[in-house]
Amino acid sequence: MPRFAYVNGQYRRHNEAAVHIEDRGYQFADGIYEVVTVMNNKLIDEEGHLDRLERSLKELQIAMPMSRQVFKMVSRELARRNGLDNGLIYMQVTRGVAPRNHAFPAANVPPAVVMTTKRMNFNKMKKFTEGVSVITIPDQRWERRDIKTVALLPNCLGKQKATEAGSYEAWQVDGDGYITEGTSSNAWILSKDKKLITRPLSNDILHGITRRTVLQLAAEEGIEVEERAFTVDEAYDALEAYATSATSFVTPIVRIDDKVLGNGKPGHFGQKLLAAYTDYAEGAGAS
Ligand code: PDD
Repeated sequence: MPRFAYVNGQYRRHNEAAVHIEDRGYQFADGIYEVVTVMNNKLIDEEGHLDRLERSLKELQIAMPMSRQVFKMVSRELARRNGLDNGLIYMQVTRGVAPRNHAFPAANVPPAVVMTTKRMNFNKMKKFTEGVSVITIPDQRWERRDIKTVALLPNCLGKQKATEAGSYEAWQVDGDGYITEGTSSNAWILSKDKKLITRPLSNDILHGITRRTVLQLAAEEGIEVEERAFTVDEAYDALEAYATSATSFVTPIVRIDDKVLGNGKPGHFGQKLLAAYTDYAEGAGAS
């Protein structure tokens, strides 16, 4: 079956799909993106992702290129054409195509939209049953990490470091020694007194859609939550730790740098949160 991408209003064969060399996303990273997970043919937390897509565009003064309804239709049509039952839908909007100039182009230049899909087999992922390790690195990003821009170079450099260390993720550390988040996921610990701790929303981190859902689920499970920054030493000392994102769900972390957490296996609270998230993804969160 040929794979398709959606490019500015058209479904193109993936291997032929292309954008212009003067797309501002290519030249300036002047654009934003979203990743929505598809599980059993349903999208997870679609409204939340579209809310954040609209917010990111607004923060960068890029016009919404098409209505939410059309984003929803195209997502489903692309998933259908690509036979995508489990995986992700990637959506990207840039400020469009114009001769290279740092200042914005004329108002009549339309934003450029690209959507692709990627197949994933969530059932077979060992990360959920065996857990993963993370390393810590300095946070080298700009001050508007709340905007989901395609300017991901520090994130890519960090993830590469993690990969070279045989780790799943790199937790970025701010100038005061507090963990901000992973390079493509939010960071959580469970303290020894069984409080679930994650950094509060601000411009320091991406406002994860999975993070928001997990906060709700934790409350429903009766787990005490503290939204506050935590240090690397606190993380080393934690009972459990997790990474959350659209495609990580609630991934258990069993080692941070050289420090093994607990007995080095996924802990009870994490397994409970992951089960609650999976139920949510198959139920109330699915559309
Ligand atoms: N990453 N923090 C960062 C820096 C991220 O890039 C992401 C998502 C998250 C988690 O957000 P959410 O729960 O809404 O997926 C936190 C996506 C999956 C990516 O870049 O592929």
